[in-house]
Amino acid sequence: MPKKGLTVWFTGLSAAGKTTIALAVEKILQERGIKVERLDGDTVRQSLTKDLGFSKEDRDKNISRVSFVAKLLTRNNVIVLASFISPYKEERSKAKETIGSFIEVYVHATVEECTKRDPKGLYKKAIAGEIPHFTGVSDPYEEPEHADLVCHTVTESEEESVQKVIQFLEDNNYIEKAGEEVYSDEEREKVQKRLEDLGYL
Ligand code: ADX
Repeated sequence: MPKKGLTVWFTGLSAAGKTTIALAVEKILQERGIKVERLDGDTVRQSLTKDLGFSKEDRDKNISRVSFVAKLLTRNNVIVLASFISPYKEERSKAKETIGSFIEVYVHATVEECTKRDPKGLYKKAIAGEIPHFTGVSDPYEEPEHADLVCHTVTESEEESVQKVIQFLEDNNYIEKAGEEVYSDEEREKVQKRLEDLGYL
């Protein structure tokens, strides 16, 4: 169990590495028995926000609907990993306000690097003018100025970025450190009583 719910909000350009990092973090949390849910632009846009495109208005609606879901999960002690370009500062701060327990992770890679990676061939199309309003090419991305964490995916390995996130969650008491024994209050009392009875305390 996580100690309390939290939304880890990954923001950054398409192909910066948001989904890759979130997937790896998800796996580690699942292995530790922690309730975790992933919300990702590419999948959410096939269902909950299927009707939306990429105008500012639609992107804002996308983030606002997703924030609503993230809020419900977070208040039920789930760790939510949300990966959305979320290019507008104002919408990201609204998400934070709505969700409450929230950290912002800036997954940073330059447009040049993302264009090189181009796993879905979208940058190529955007540069050719075939996709209008493409973030980083023909649409803005407002960089976070006070992100809780920055993953530099051009210079860091995937493992380093993932470890940074896990370490942050541990250091800020959102999850137990790996290998730490977890007692419920009742179990802790029992152990304490037994040690007292044995005269150790
Ligand atoms: S957001 O801006 O509303 O936060 P979101 O993260 O949900 O975006 O979706 C981004 C994904 O949609 C990209 O990874 C890419 O696969 C796809 N996409 C299609 N058109 C665009 C576009 N014009 N700009 C950015 N991403 C686009």
